[in-house]
Amino acid sequence: MTDRYAVIGNPIEHSKSPEIHAAFAAQTGQDMTYERILGDLEDFEGDVADFFAAGGKGLNVTVPFKERAFRLADELSPRADTAQAVNTLIARDNGRLQGDNTDGVGLVRDLGCNHLFNFKGARILLLGAGGAARGVVQPLLDEGPAELLIANRTASRAEQLARELATLGPVSGCGLDELVGRRFDLIINATSAGLRAQVPEIPDDCLAEGGWSYDMMYASEPTAFVLWGREHGAAKALDGLGMLVEQAAESFRLWRGVMPDTAPVIAALRG
Ligand code: ATR
Repeated sequence: MTDRYAVIGNPIEHSKSPEIHAAFAAQTGQDMTYERILGDLEDFEGDVADFFAAGGKGLNVTVPFKERAFRLADELSPRADTAQAVNTLIARDNGRLQGDNTDGVGLVRDLGCNHLFNFKGARILLLGAGGAARGVVQPLLDEGPAELLIANRTASRAEQLARELATLGPVSGCGLDELVGRRFDLIINATSAGLRAQVPEIPDDCLAEGGWSYDMMYASEPTAFVLWGREHGAAKALDGLGMLVEQAAESFRLWRGVMPDTAPVIAALRG
């Protein structure tokens, strides 16, 4: 029987996940469908229950439901537990729902495997202290950077997040206004500033010689933060398309037990 999967979010019409998973399924010969579901802002939990009651095998969860998916999962992977957000739900044979989070591993694989960024000993600046930032802290620390500094417009949120995750590695938090004189090998934008075509206010000389910039957002045009990277001497100024495909690949692996080849899918989307 054909297995059913979907992505649920609100809004959802622009999601590229159906296209990505269809490509993975074709490539690996998996018998499955993958659709879009517009989640009800009032009753997301009911939508999820209906999907699995009808035999659905797995869901991707996107904005604004990742924290609610975290709360409704019966079991959590350690990385979802740390992220306090779930982007992948898996129907287990015993009827329980397993929650996982593949966003952080998606970011790390795009940077490390697709672009060969060397995390070991790197000084990393993570901009933002919301759910998007929280979700990637542990996977970044697992790669062995010298430092992970979380900087946020509202300093207290960054300081709080860093305090909470301090046992995981060399992480600290500060305000954007405390970055003067600091240099980083990698600057990752996990803020939502790009939604309004803005970039966080950081010093012009924050990037070390040969440093990279990475915007976790993706758009068909270069994002505001990609443009910032290009204008400030980034050796590479990347957007989040690779992360999007890599997080999808990890979800696909969790569901189907086979890892798809992401390179042709990224290339096709890049068009
Ligand atoms: P998400 O779950 O996507 O991370 P969020 O929890 O609302 O969303 O967090 C948004 C992040 O973007 C926050 O870190 C926010 O900074 P504040 O905590 O100070 O609000 C950051 N952000 C949004 N717009 C920004 C802007 N124009 N400049 C700098 N940071 C911005």
